[in-house]
Amino acid sequence: MLGLIDHGVPGWPHSADDSIHPYNQDEMYKMYFGLGQSLELIHTAQVFKVSLAGLRLGSYLVRTSDQLTLNSSFLDIGTGSGVHALLMRKLGNNHITAADISKNSINQAKKHELINFTDKKISFHVSDLFEGIPKDKFHTILFNPPGWRTPSNSLLDELKSIKQQGQIPIRAMFYGDDVVTRFLDELPVHLSTTGRAIIGLNSLVGIRDILQRYHEKHQGVPPLSYKLIERHTFPLLYYSAQWRMISHALKDEFKDWLKKDLAAYSIDQHGEIYWSYEIVEFFHHKT
Ligand SMILES: C[S@@+](CC[C@H](N)C(=O)[O-])C[C@H]1O[C@@H](n2cnc3c(N)ncnc32)[C@H](O)[C@@H]1O
Repeated sequence: MLGLIDHGVPGWPHSADDSIHPYNQDEMYKMYFGLGQSLELIHTAQVFKVSLAGLRLGSYLVRTSDQLTLNSSFLDIGTGSGVHALLMRKLGNNHITAADISKNSINQAKKHELINFTDKKISFHVSDLFEGIPKDKFHTILFNPPGWRTPSNSLLDELKSIKQQGQIPIRAMFYGDDVVTRFLDELPVHLSTTGRAIIGLNSLVGIRDILQRYHEKHQGVPPLSYKLIERHTFPLLYYSAQWRMISHALKDEFKDWLKKDLAAYSIDQHGEIYWSYEIVEFFHHKT
Protein backbone atom coordinates (compact mmCIF):
# COMPACT_ATOMS: atom_id res chain seq x y z
CA MET A 1 0.00 0.00 0.00
CA LEU A 2 2.86 2.37 0.76
CA GLY A 3 3.79 2.15 -2.90
CA LEU A 4 0.76 4.33 -3.68
CA ILE A 5 2.44 7.40 -2.17
CA ASP A 6 2.90 10.11 -4.76
CA HIS A 7 6.47 11.39 -4.62
CA GLY A 8 6.21 13.20 -7.91
CA VAL A 9 4.75 16.62 -7.11
CA PRO A 10 7.36 19.36 -7.47
CA GLY A 11 7.51 21.80 -4.58
CA TRP A 12 5.92 19.39 -2.12
CA PRO A 13 7.49 17.25 0.59
CA HIS A 14 9.01 14.03 -0.65
CA SER A 15 8.91 12.32 2.73
CA ALA A 16 7.03 12.42 6.00
CA ASP A 17 9.21 15.44 6.85
CA ASP A 18 7.45 18.53 5.46
CA SER A 19 9.59 21.03 7.37
CA ILE A 20 11.21 22.28 4.19
CA HIS A 21 8.33 24.41 3.06
CA PRO A 22 8.69 25.58 -0.52
CA TYR A 23 6.89 28.90 0.00
CA ASN A 24 7.25 31.71 2.51
CA GLN A 25 4.21 33.52 3.87
CA ASP A 26 2.44 35.82 1.47
CA GLU A 27 4.09 34.10 -1.47
CA MET A 28 2.42 33.09 -4.68
CA TYR A 29 2.20 29.44 -5.58
CA LYS A 30 0.82 27.70 -8.64
CA MET A 31 -1.26 24.53 -8.70
CA TYR A 32 -1.78 22.42 -11.84
CA PHE A 33 -4.78 20.08 -12.05
CA GLY A 34 -4.74 18.60 -15.56
CA LEU A 35 -6.20 19.44 -18.98
CA GLY A 36 -4.13 22.63 -18.94
CA GLN A 37 -5.96 24.07 -15.90
CA SER A 38 -3.89 25.76 -13.22
CA LEU A 39 -4.41 28.42 -10.55
CA GLU A 40 -2.19 31.04 -8.93
CA LEU A 41 -2.72 31.35 -5.20
CA ILE A 42 -1.16 33.33 -2.36
CA HIS A 43 -0.11 31.47 0.76
CA THR A 44 -1.05 33.25 3.99
CA ALA A 45 -0.74 31.63 7.41
CA GLN A 46 -4.42 32.02 8.39
CA VAL A 47 -5.79 30.18 5.36
CA PHE A 48 -5.45 26.45 4.67
CA LYS A 49 -2.83 25.97 1.95
CA VAL A 50 -3.93 23.58 -0.78
CA SER A 51 -2.50 20.18 0.19
CA LEU A 52 -1.64 17.14 -1.89
CA ALA A 53 -5.12 15.86 -1.08
CA GLY A 54 -6.71 19.07 -2.41
CA LEU A 55 -4.65 18.69 -5.56
CA ARG A 56 -5.98 15.15 -6.03
CA LEU A 57 -9.54 16.32 -5.45
CA GLY A 58 -9.05 19.04 -8.08
CA SER A 59 -7.73 16.52 -10.59
CA TYR A 60 -10.76 14.34 -9.90
CA LEU A 61 -13.04 17.33 -10.61
CA VAL A 62 -11.27 17.97 -13.92
CA ARG A 63 -11.63 14.33 -14.88
CA THR A 64 -15.33 14.01 -14.04
CA SER A 65 -16.84 17.40 -14.92
CA ASP A 66 -18.99 16.72 -17.97
CA GLN A 67 -21.17 19.31 -19.76
CA LEU A 68 -24.07 18.74 -17.36
CA THR A 69 -21.81 19.39 -14.35
CA LEU A 70 -20.37 22.52 -15.96
CA ASN A 71 -23.81 23.92 -16.87
CA SER A 72 -25.34 23.21 -13.44
CA SER A 73 -25.00 24.72 -9.97
CA PHE A 74 -21.86 23.94 -7.99
CA LEU A 75 -21.27 24.51 -4.26
CA ASP A 76 -17.86 24.33 -2.61
CA ILE A 77 -18.25 24.01 1.18
CA GLY A 78 -15.19 24.80 3.32
CA THR A 79 -13.64 26.45 0.28
CA GLY A 80 -10.50 27.67 2.15
CA SER A 81 -8.36 29.41 -0.49
CA GLY A 82 -11.27 28.95 -2.92
CA VAL A 83 -9.26 26.42 -4.90
CA HIS A 84 -12.00 24.08 -6.13
CA ALA A 85 -14.55 26.82 -6.78
CA LEU A 86 -11.93 28.65 -8.85
CA LEU A 87 -11.02 25.48 -10.69
CA MET A 88 -14.67 24.95 -11.62
CA ARG A 89 -14.78 28.48 -12.98
CA LYS A 90 -11.63 27.73 -15.03
CA LEU A 91 -13.45 24.71 -16.46
CA GLY A 92 -16.32 26.95 -17.57
CA ASN A 93 -18.95 26.69 -14.83
CA ASN A 94 -20.75 30.02 -14.27
CA HIS A 95 -23.06 28.91 -11.44
CA ILE A 96 -20.65 28.66 -8.54
CA THR A 97 -21.24 29.26 -4.83
CA ALA A 98 -18.47 28.89 -2.24
CA ALA A 99 -18.62 29.05 1.55
CA ASP A 100 -16.35 28.78 4.55
CA ILE A 101 -16.78 29.31 8.27
CA SER A 102 -13.59 31.41 8.24
CA LYS A 103 -13.91 35.05 7.17
CA ASN A 104 -10.17 35.18 6.41
CA SER A 105 -10.60 32.29 3.98
CA ILE A 106 -13.49 33.94 2.16
CA ASN A 107 -11.56 37.23 1.86
CA GLN A 108 -8.58 35.31 0.50
CA ALA A 109 -10.73 33.29 -1.92
CA LYS A 110 -12.26 36.53 -3.27
CA LYS A 111 -8.75 37.90 -3.79
CA HIS A 112 -7.82 34.70 -5.61
CA GLU A 113 -10.75 35.08 -7.98
CA LEU A 114 -9.54 38.52 -9.01
CA ILE A 115 -5.95 37.28 -9.43
CA ASN A 116 -7.04 34.39 -11.67
CA PHE A 117 -9.91 36.00 -13.62
CA THR A 118 -9.89 39.80 -13.04
CA ASP A 119 -13.69 39.87 -12.51
CA LYS A 120 -16.12 38.48 -9.90
CA LYS A 121 -18.57 35.71 -10.76
CA ILE A 122 -18.46 33.34 -7.77
CA SER A 123 -20.97 33.89 -4.97
CA PHE A 124 -18.92 33.75 -1.73
CA HIS A 125 -20.39 33.39 1.79
CA VAL A 126 -19.10 33.13 5.34
CA SER A 127 -21.20 30.23 6.57
CA ASP A 128 -21.30 27.31 8.98
CA LEU A 129 -21.97 24.56 6.41
CA PHE A 130 -25.25 25.42 4.57
CA GLU A 131 -26.57 27.87 7.19
CA GLY A 132 -25.64 31.18 5.49
CA ILE A 133 -26.01 30.08 1.86
CA PRO A 134 -28.98 31.76 0.14
CA LYS A 135 -29.59 29.14 -2.56
CA ASP A 136 -30.91 25.81 -1.34
CA LYS A 137 -30.34 23.12 -4.04
CA PHE A 138 -27.16 22.27 -5.94
CA HIS A 139 -26.32 19.78 -8.65
CA THR A 140 -22.77 19.27 -7.41
CA ILE A 141 -21.62 19.81 -3.83
CA LEU A 142 -17.94 19.48 -2.97
CA PHE A 143 -16.51 19.32 0.55
CA ASN A 144 -12.88 18.79 1.53
CA PRO A 145 -13.56 18.86 5.28
CA PRO A 146 -11.17 19.16 8.22
CA GLY A 147 -9.35 15.81 8.20
CA TRP A 148 -8.65 15.27 11.91
CA ARG A 149 -11.07 14.39 14.71
CA THR A 150 -12.18 16.47 17.69
CA PRO A 151 -9.05 16.98 19.83
CA SER A 152 -8.88 15.56 23.36
CA ASN A 153 -8.69 18.09 26.20
CA SER A 154 -4.97 17.49 26.62
CA LEU A 155 -4.27 18.07 22.91
CA LEU A 156 -6.50 21.14 22.97
CA ASP A 157 -4.35 22.51 25.81
CA GLU A 158 -1.24 21.91 23.70
CA LEU A 159 -2.85 23.58 20.70
CA LYS A 160 -3.83 26.60 22.79
CA SER A 161 -0.36 26.82 24.34
CA ILE A 162 1.24 27.32 20.90
CA LYS A 163 -1.51 29.59 19.63
CA GLN A 164 0.00 32.67 18.08
CA GLN A 165 -1.32 35.45 15.92
CA GLY A 166 -1.61 34.60 12.25
CA GLN A 167 -1.85 30.84 12.03
CA ILE A 168 -4.46 28.51 10.56
CA PRO A 169 -7.44 28.13 12.91
CA ILE A 170 -7.85 24.83 14.77
CA ARG A 171 -11.18 24.37 12.95
CA ALA A 172 -9.41 24.22 9.58
CA MET A 173 -8.17 20.70 10.39
CA PHE A 174 -9.81 19.46 13.64
CA TYR A 175 -13.43 18.60 14.56
CA GLY A 176 -13.78 16.79 11.21
CA ASP A 177 -15.92 13.99 12.73
CA ASP A 178 -18.45 16.51 14.03
CA VAL A 179 -18.47 18.63 10.84
CA VAL A 180 -18.83 15.67 8.46
CA THR A 181 -21.64 14.19 10.57
CA ARG A 182 -23.55 17.48 10.51
CA PHE A 183 -22.84 17.86 6.79
CA LEU A 184 -24.33 14.41 6.05
CA ASP A 185 -27.42 15.25 8.13
CA GLU A 186 -28.05 18.45 6.14
CA LEU A 187 -26.96 17.21 2.71
CA PRO A 188 -30.16 15.51 1.38
CA VAL A 189 -32.14 18.77 1.41
CA HIS A 190 -29.45 20.65 -0.54
CA LEU A 191 -28.46 18.04 -3.12
CA SER A 192 -30.61 17.94 -6.25
CA THR A 193 -32.20 14.56 -6.97
CA THR A 194 -29.87 13.83 -9.90
CA GLY A 195 -26.79 15.46 -8.41
CA ARG A 196 -23.74 14.21 -6.50
CA ALA A 197 -21.80 15.33 -3.45
CA ILE A 198 -18.04 14.77 -3.63
CA ILE A 199 -16.33 14.48 -0.26
CA GLY A 200 -12.62 14.02 0.41
CA LEU A 201 -12.28 12.04 3.62
CA ASN A 202 -9.07 11.72 5.62
CA SER A 203 -8.75 8.32 7.34
CA LEU A 204 -7.69 10.19 10.52
CA VAL A 205 -11.22 11.57 10.76
CA GLY A 206 -12.63 8.13 11.55
CA ILE A 207 -14.47 7.17 8.36
CA ARG A 208 -15.73 3.84 9.75
CA ASP A 209 -17.02 5.53 12.89
CA ILE A 210 -18.80 8.31 10.95
CA LEU A 211 -20.44 5.92 8.48
CA GLN A 212 -21.46 3.48 11.21
CA ARG A 213 -23.17 6.28 13.14
CA TYR A 214 -24.76 7.48 9.87
CA HIS A 215 -26.30 4.01 9.36
CA GLU A 216 -27.37 3.65 13.00
CA LYS A 217 -29.10 7.04 12.98
CA HIS A 218 -31.24 5.89 10.03
CA GLN A 219 -31.86 2.28 11.18
CA GLY A 220 -29.55 0.93 8.49
CA VAL A 221 -31.17 2.85 5.61
CA PRO A 222 -29.46 6.25 5.31
CA PRO A 223 -31.15 8.84 3.07
CA LEU A 224 -28.25 8.90 0.58
CA SER A 225 -26.23 6.16 -1.10
CA TYR A 226 -22.46 6.48 -1.31
CA LYS A 227 -19.47 4.84 -2.95
CA LEU A 228 -15.70 5.08 -2.66
CA ILE A 229 -14.38 6.53 -5.91
CA GLU A 230 -10.63 6.57 -5.31
CA ARG A 231 -8.10 6.37 -2.50
CA HIS A 232 -4.62 7.86 -2.11
CA THR A 233 -2.00 7.31 0.57
CA PHE A 234 0.08 10.22 1.91
CA PRO A 235 2.73 10.63 4.60
CA LEU A 236 1.59 12.57 7.66
CA LEU A 237 1.65 16.34 7.12
CA TYR A 238 1.47 18.99 9.84
CA TYR A 239 0.12 21.89 7.71
CA SER A 240 1.72 24.64 9.84
CA ALA A 241 4.99 25.30 11.65
CA GLN A 242 3.09 25.57 14.95
CA TRP A 243 1.48 22.15 14.57
CA ARG A 244 4.84 20.66 13.62
CA MET A 245 6.17 21.95 16.98
CA ILE A 246 3.75 19.61 18.77
CA SER A 247 4.21 16.66 16.43
CA HIS A 248 4.76 14.27 19.38
CA ALA A 249 1.46 15.25 20.97
CA LEU A 250 -0.29 14.92 17.60
CA LYS A 251 1.16 11.46 16.99
CA ASP A 252 0.14 10.36 20.51
CA GLU A 253 -3.37 11.61 19.82
CA PHE A 254 -3.53 9.74 16.49
CA LYS A 255 -2.27 6.56 18.22
CA ASP A 256 -5.04 6.90 20.77
CA TRP A 257 -7.68 7.28 18.02
CA LEU A 258 -6.25 4.19 16.28
CA LYS A 259 -6.35 2.16 19.51
CA LYS A 260 -10.01 3.08 19.98
CA ASP A 261 -10.76 2.24 16.31
CA LEU A 262 -11.70 5.89 15.74
CA ALA A 263 -9.12 6.40 12.98
CA ALA A 264 -7.22 4.21 10.52
CA TYR A 265 -3.76 4.49 8.97
CA SER A 266 -0.67 2.49 8.01
CA ILE A 267 2.56 2.60 10.02
CA ASP A 268 5.91 1.68 8.46
CA GLN A 269 8.86 0.01 10.22
CA HIS A 270 10.14 3.43 11.41
CA GLY A 271 6.81 4.27 13.04
CA GLU A 272 5.90 6.82 10.34
CA ILE A 273 2.20 7.35 9.74
CA TYR A 274 0.68 7.07 6.26
CA TRP A 275 -2.94 8.16 6.06
CA SER A 276 -5.50 7.52 3.39
CA TYR A 277 -7.41 10.18 1.43
CA GLU A 278 -10.70 8.78 0.19
CA ILE A 279 -12.85 10.49 -2.41
CA VAL A 280 -16.42 9.39 -1.71
CA GLU A 281 -19.54 10.36 -3.67
CA PHE A 282 -23.00 10.64 -2.09
CA PHE A 283 -26.19 10.68 -4.16
CA HIS A 284 -29.93 10.12 -3.80
CA HIS A 285 -31.07 6.50 -4.14
CA LYS A 286 -31.91 5.62 -7.70
CA THR A 287 -35.62 4.74 -8.01
C1 LIG B 1 -9.05 20.89 5.08
S1 LIG B 1 -9.51 22.58 4.79
C2 LIG B 1 -9.88 22.52 3.03
C3 LIG B 1 -9.79 23.86 2.36
C4 LIG B 1 -9.98 23.82 0.81
N1 LIG B 1 -11.29 23.35 0.45
C5 LIG B 1 -8.92 22.94 0.20
O1 LIG B 1 -9.26 21.86 -0.31
O2 LIG B 1 -7.76 23.35 0.19
C6 LIG B 1 -11.14 22.61 5.54
C7 LIG B 1 -11.87 23.93 5.38
O3 LIG B 1 -13.20 23.78 5.95
C8 LIG B 1 -13.53 24.96 6.65
N2 LIG B 1 -14.55 24.61 7.65
C9 LIG B 1 -14.38 23.96 8.83
N3 LIG B 1 -15.57 23.83 9.46
C10 LIG B 1 -16.51 24.39 8.65
C11 LIG B 1 -17.93 24.59 8.76
N4 LIG B 1 -18.60 24.14 9.82
N5 LIG B 1 -18.56 25.21 7.75
C12 LIG B 1 -17.87 25.68 6.67
N6 LIG B 1 -16.54 25.54 6.52
C13 LIG B 1 -15.87 24.90 7.50
C14 LIG B 1 -12.22 25.43 7.25
O4 LIG B 1 -12.26 26.80 7.59
C15 LIG B 1 -11.24 25.11 6.12
O5 LIG B 1 -11.08 26.19 5.23
